[in-house]
Amino acid sequence: MELEQLNQRFNQLFSRQVDGVGYAPGRVNLIGDHTDYNQGLVLPAAINMGTWVLAAKRSDKRVNMVAVDFDDTLVSFELEQILFDHQWPWSNYIRGVFVALHAAMTNQQSALFGRQLSGVDLLIGGNLPQGAGLSSSASLEVALLRALADLFQLPIDAVLAAQLGQAAENQFVGCNCGIMDQLTAAMGRKSQAMLLDCHDLTTEFVSLPQSLALMIINSNIKRELVGSEYNDRRQQCDQVAHYFRQPSLRGVTQQMLNGASDKLDETLLRRARHVISENTRVQQLFTALIDSDLPQISRLMAASHASLRDDFEVSTKAIDQLVQIVHAMLGEGGGVRMTGGGFGGCVVALVPKSRVSTIIDDITAQYKQATGLDADIYLCRAQAGAFSQCK
Ligand code: GLA
Repeated sequence: MELEQLNQRFNQLFSRQVDGVGYAPGRVNLIGDHTDYNQGLVLPAAINMGTWVLAAKRSDKRVNMVAVDFDDTLVSFELEQILFDHQWPWSNYIRGVFVALHAAMTNQQSALFGRQLSGVDLLIGGNLPQGAGLSSSASLEVALLRALADLFQLPIDAVLAAQLGQAAENQFVGCNCGIMDQLTAAMGRKSQAMLLDCHDLTTEFVSLPQSLALMIINSNIKRELVGSEYNDRRQQCDQVAHYFRQPSLRGVTQQMLNGASDKLDETLLRRARHVISENTRVQQLFTALIDSDLPQISRLMAASHASLRDDFEVSTKAIDQLVQIVHAMLGEGGGVRMTGGGFGGCVVALVPKSRVSTIIDDITAQYKQATGLDADIYLCRAQAGAFSQCK
């Protein structure tokens, strides 16, 4: 639904005007998957699809919310008693953000200490495909924080917004995700990808090569992070870090792994090898993008996919087929890999602009033939995040 329609819907539903609107983009990750929660490197971009949160303050402590893209049902809770909701799972992202805000507002170390919220009426809508690995949940959390920051004049910057969104997922929703998705939704920049060091949250930006289009191909295999193998992967990584008495895999090198090859389980060794090698590829892709070095872009994205498939084991057959199809078309003229958490979802490709329309036709036909599934293809632009200083 467009913003105009969402506004009208808000007026009808709540019989009042909107006081604040928050928007946050989804993200696509060019390289660096399953590295963020290992304090490693990632290279995502915020994209021109995202989530709107329309809001108006209430005089009581009630939160009313309707998500037009889910069940379009009014769901409510009281700020004094926020419980996990099994019936309306989407509402837990909203609940989790309020819980994280409450914790910050009662923490003397936080910039939000002493602030207070009243209840709100919320309408949520957008154009980001759900469960496709484009971070619809982070986009929702950050859009909500943008709306609340404006409504209640809260001193929230991009990093704090990302931390609050991540806390909502980790502590309330039950997904032990890293900070990449929320930080990209908050801090991304127009036309650029963001090299983020998840160890100290420093960023560097790189423009995407002029000759390449950013293409996202949805395999239409839905993914589910919570309760999936995601948390297991994280736990396996932590186990290896713990073995080496390091706070995270960032402090572990391939040499250290080699030295422990007879002491660590073979699966754990492969998990860690993925993370260590992926961090190197992130840095290399950053440089290859600066140099517009297409053969190197092709190689690095292919190597990242292989590592996620073989060592980290988060790809699926259909995604592998899709990547293979696109890779055969691009050769050394662009790159393609799975993107995000895995187990379905999307593939990201950097495709020569001159070949976009033929490539779209060919992917559609060949993916259908190979899997019987329809791919959805989005040609995207990198866009600014909700709390970005550089719009
Ligand atoms: C999900 C998580 C992120 C990140 C990716 C994998 O999107 O939310 O924090 O771990 O998976 O790179």
